[in-house]
Amino acid sequence: MGANKHLILDVNVIVDLWLEEGSSSVTETLIMEAAASDTQLWVASAAMATLDYVARRAFKTRGVPPNVVAEMIPQLMENLLGRAKVLTNHGFEQSDIYSRATDFEDAQTAAAARSLAGQMVCIVTEDSSFDTLGEISKKTPTEALAWMLEKESNSAKQAIPFIDLAAQQAALRPMIERGIETVLRHGQYIMGPEVKLLEEKLTAYTGSKHCITVASGTEALLISLMAIGIQPGDEIITTPFTFIATAEVIVLLGAKPVFVDVESDTCNIDASKIEAAITNKTKAIMPVSLYGQPADMDEINAIAAKYSLPVIEDAAQSFGAEYKGKKSCNLSTIGCTSFFPSKPLGCYGDGGAIFTNDDVIAQACREIRVHGQSKRYWHTRIGVGGRMDTIQCAIVLAKLERFDWEVQRRLEIGARYNTLMDEHGMIRVQQRADRTSVFAQYTVLLDNREQIQGKFKEAGIPTAVHYPFPLNQQPAYRQFRSADNTPVSNEMAKRVMSLPMGADLQEGQQDWVVRVLRSLS
Ligand SMILES: Cc1ncc(COP(=O)(O)O)c(C=O)c1O
Repeated sequence: MGANKHLILDVNVIVDLWLEEGSSSVTETLIMEAAASDTQLWVASAAMATLDYVARRAFKTRGVPPNVVAEMIPQLMENLLGRAKVLTNHGFEQSDIYSRATDFEDAQTAAAARSLAGQMVCIVTEDSSFDTLGEISKKTPTEALAWMLEKESNSAKQAIPFIDLAAQQAALRPMIERGIETVLRHGQYIMGPEVKLLEEKLTAYTGSKHCITVASGTEALLISLMAIGIQPGDEIITTPFTFIATAEVIVLLGAKPVFVDVESDTCNIDASKIEAAITNKTKAIMPVSLYGQPADMDEINAIAAKYSLPVIEDAAQSFGAEYKGKKSCNLSTIGCTSFFPSKPLGCYGDGGAIFTNDDVIAQACREIRVHGQSKRYWHTRIGVGGRMDTIQCAIVLAKLERFDWEVQRRLEIGARYNTLMDEHGMIRVQQRADRTSVFAQYTVLLDNREQIQGKFKEAGIPTAVHYPFPLNQQPAYRQFRSADNTPVSNEMAKRVMSLPMGADLQEGQQDWVVRVLRSLS
């Protein structure tokens, strides 16, 4: 696993350090603390020549004899390179930066920083006019030291966020701002170029043929059902152990959700119970990839094929997960995801996407998303106002910069939670070996949940329950409960509790969460 934070030292900071002037003592502390706090120090390779030149001149103007300078510089360089790595990547392929540059050396450093894109990185400089060209953030040595140590003091008992969106934003802020700024400049707030670009990137990511961005995950599900022609009275098989949106869209179209119980270990729909629920009114199967882990899609797709039914994966929680080497959202007829801010790939508002390999369904979704129009003011179907804003697409594009890293971290953190839970005999939601979970939620099973949640609250650790009631017990949905045939969902709803989780969760924080849980269970 790489470092948590990255500091690129500017020439002026290093020269001050060598001359023991200005903020040299802070920089010294910064360098000493970096290793202990999992921070990687860098120097841009293009800065090395400047450093050599500026340092020699500075020593000379301070009266240091040339022969002493000649001896000192290589030693200082060697010492520096023992602590900092050299950052390359400022070649001609970064010419877009150079064409915007107001200061060529600053631009070289900004270009070099691109190889760390998506991670928590800042340039440490004393130069208040250092032009980062919107590529990275900059801090003085004092600010950088505080930033570097910030997480350390947070990492143990202080407030642990349920999902640390602030740390993610700190890492991606320049990219996000650049994306928003571009939209503000071109002004195409609806269906601007970022919408198409995001759809292209997401099709490439998932491997599906089509991606249609929409206003939310709920809208993705609704538009998908409309695209396959769901009518009043139709039945859709789904799970009761999910967020309300899954069933809500079915009912909104006048159709009936038919609830099939879940597995007690994964909390996903029990594929072995689906076939018995199929009637001649069944028009689709809608599994949910709960907590970030796909359901048994092969089995579900096989049943669907037998009865010629489409399968819609509600992948609102599982973007980035894999099932037998294929990406969630590309595991069935249609995949629907959500970019709600706290989802594994989130924007800063509402957003979602539909994925399919079916040209006809894709076209239907595209038209339904814009009021059912096949050309301007020509409405061939009933549709909705369901587009995703250009600004939100720009934000997701920026978030994609470190998404691979985030997924990797989620896998590592989830695996570490699993090990700790298993070591201490705590019961947790299980993951199957042939698929990954992106752990939209990390969920454990408890017998005395209310009591434990109260204690967690006292310890300043947020928890959540996904979900306290199965949908067939919700007042508005009781009419769809033919019999009490979902005992596992009922039981899970009483026992599940989700813990803090996210790509930026620190080991110290995780240990603290587990320690509190152990002391209570
Ligand atoms: C399983 C599931 N389905 C659907 C949705 C709806 O997504 P959105 O909030 O983007 O409308 C969510 C979001 O919470 C979800 O978790």
